[in-house]
Amino acid sequence: MKNHIINIITIAMVTLVFAMPATADDLREWQLPPVPVPADNPQSQAKVALGQQLAFDTRLSKNDSISCAGCHLPFAGGGGHTPRAFGHGGELGRWAPSWINAAYATSLFWDGRASSLEEQTGALPGHMGPISAPGEMAGDVQAIVKKLNAIPGYRKQFKQVFGEGVTAENIAKAIAAFERTLIAFNAPFQRYVRGDKTAISPAAKRGFALFRGKAQCIACHTPPLLTDNAFHNIGVPQVGPLKEDQGRYAITKDTDDMRAFKTPSLYNSASFAFFMHDGAMSTMEEVIEHYNQGGNPKDRSQSPLITPLKLTAREKADLIAFMQTLTDPELNHIHRPRLP
Ligand code: HEC
Ligand code: HEC
Repeated sequence: MKNHIINIITIAMVTLVFAMPATADDLREWQLPPVPVPADNPQSQAKVALGQQLAFDTRLSKNDSISCAGCHLPFAGGGGHTPRAFGHGGELGRWAPSWINAAYATSLFWDGRASSLEEQTGALPGHMGPISAPGEMAGDVQAIVKKLNAIPGYRKQFKQVFGEGVTAENIAKAIAAFERTLIAFNAPFQRYVRGDKTAISPAAKRGFALFRGKAQCIACHTPPLLTDNAFHNIGVPQVGPLKEDQGRYAITKDTDDMRAFKTPSLYNSASFAFFMHDGAMSTMEEVIEHYNQGGNPKDRSQSPLITPLKLTAREKADLIAFMQTLTDPELNHIHRPRLP
């Protein structure tokens, strides 16, 4: 009997929580936290400015052909403008994900194989990343260091910022410092959760409630980062040049990770030209429809968290209205600075 009463109380409480409009306290947990900065690479304005130059400079690649921003296009929300990225090796197997909010990630790349932004650049010895990866910028890091050292403007800035000339490590540090400024603090949703009740529309507020409720997005896109920094197989179809992309499984060899990919942060995703690790989708409508249908039930490795949602047309529109409030417009307008 006592248990029964406790159950009723629990059910009543849960119902109440779901029925309650979001309180100020609920909203605070959605605020993006300060960016973590490693002790050995403190931020400074000069370092960030240098990092931005490097991120837009094609001279960091073989034949001066491609820059970081050439694949992470600011106007496309920091993601790729082709379904799979094109580098020196031709078409790669994966879509270039946004670098917005990547500074919070505890592991980088769709399969989580890099653990810091510095390491991710591929400039550090022993670490393969875009600068050094043959399929991407195909750079010989030492040759790039030499090339940049021969540019007086860069040599001067590296001296100012790091107290020494251009080194592979300092290239990685400067680019990482720039990436730590690519945070969607000015997205309308962030203004909303900081207390500006009019920052998002009534439709977006309904969409936010669906995100946390009926649509169950919150199961993986958790507050405050909208990612649990974990890996899930959500049944995305395999497209592009790869026959099969095993995702996280290729790193861990754990069968639970088969075709599992990192949960992305969703910020600025309304500006993406493509979605998902292989760019299999090109509109937000398609993404929502994928979830609505329960992903790909034929994929036996699909996460049990993906189930049909039975969303109405209006609910789908509301969810999309919410997704649009995640775009920080300033980050879509970062431009190529003057290069030395
Ligand atoms: C040829 C296109 C291309 C270039 C050039 C490129 N990237 Fe990428 N980037 C990608 C692709 C594709 C991925 C995903 C690769 C994967 O998951 O295996 C990626 C992933 C990333 C990620 C991981 C994001 C996350 O949330 O996991 C970051 C950060 C990033 N790139 C930054 C950079 C930086 C900095 C540069 C320049 C030094 C750069 N990229 C150059 C295509 C590119
Ligand atoms: C089981 C965990 C899980 C749930 C639940 C979930 N997602 Fe995702 N989401 C992911 C993962 C993992 C990816 C990347 C999958 C891939 O590339 O194969 C993703 C990708 C996305 C993307 C593409 C972003 C990009 O950078 O390509 C959007 C948009 C998105 N989810 C929105 C939603 C919405 C809206 C909901 C609720 C209807 C939702 N997600 C529910 C885990 C989840």
